[in-house]
Amino acid sequence: MTSRVEIFEMGPRDGLQNEKRMIATADKIALVDLLSQAGFRRIEVTSFVSPKWVPQMGDATQVMAGIARRAGVSYAALTPNLKGYQAAHQARASEVAIFASASEGFSRANLNASIADSLERFRPVADAARADGVPMRGYVSVVTDCPFDGPTAPSDVARVVAALRDMGCYEVSLGDTIGQGRPETIDAMLGAVLNELPADRLAGHYHDTAGRALQNVDASLARGLRVFDAAVGGLGGCPYAPGAAGNVATEALARHLAAQGFDHGLDMAVIDRAAAFARTLREETHA
Ligand code: HMG
Ligand code: MG
Repeated sequence: MTSRVEIFEMGPRDGLQNEKRMIATADKIALVDLLSQAGFRRIEVTSFVSPKWVPQMGDATQVMAGIARRAGVSYAALTPNLKGYQAAHQARASEVAIFASASEGFSRANLNASIADSLERFRPVADAARADGVPMRGYVSVVTDCPFDGPTAPSDVARVVAALRDMGCYEVSLGDTIGQGRPETIDAMLGAVLNELPADRLAGHYHDTAGRALQNVDASLARGLRVFDAAVGGLGGCPYAPGAAGNVATEALARHLAAQGFDHGLDMAVIDRAAAFARTLREETHA
């Protein structure tokens, strides 16, 4: 078993999307540029979603145009439909991500569509990405608990993971969107999902609302997962998931992994600077 674990940085997208006050485009670019120096292989920069739904991400094209791209770093963007994909491709996103829900309630709240309809909407995105040679990642939200529908059945998560796999996602990230998962529920969910996709094509995306994200990472490590999403400064939350707090903080996750002997390859001095900068963005917003 490899001792290498990759952290996929989410701060500029999942971290900032929930901030109420508009963060300056220049500050978003500065955050990405700082993160580019930290050793990440993948950074989620922004999302090409409807600005009516998530106004904070309305400057996606300008952010993508302004960042200084570093060789070897993949600059990712969320794309909910073909319109979003075309804009992301035009803006030279290195990779894109489609995002589905394991529950009907969250699917309606986040995407204004049933799970089945959302998957149909992703199909042209998948076709275009394949034709353009753009790697596509997938997310499944509310993998253990939904703010609208209650506990999520592991089999429901596995079904959506299989659909995303069949559409060509190279990896599927499992979102504990509202941070209510526990090591036992994460483990049960993974037990079902691993029947559809091996651990080396799965990632854990755990929000830290209840302070259990690191325990949930440990449960996932035990199942063989070696990629985890995190946001510097623990920023974030989903605007369509009431009560959702930030992703697990990158700096806390990196130290937690290092203490267990895993190699994450990140420069902690840069990470700490980025976390401090990210917190100033939030503090200004919440001031
Ligand atoms: P809709 O209102 O049903 O869509 O929303 P529509 O097709 O009827 O379009 C409505 C308007 O939006 C139209 O404009 C479209 O042109 C425009 P109008 O004609 O009224 O002027 N529009 C767009 N504009 C720019 N880019 C686009 C786009 N698409 C439509 N791509 C839609 C459906 C999917 C668009 C909407 O529900 C949406 O944007 N949802 C995204 C919500 C979101 O970003 N949530 C947060 C990210 S997911 C997350 O955080 C979870 C995750 O972190 C994992 C986890 O933690 O679980 C990934
Ligand atoms: Mg999230």
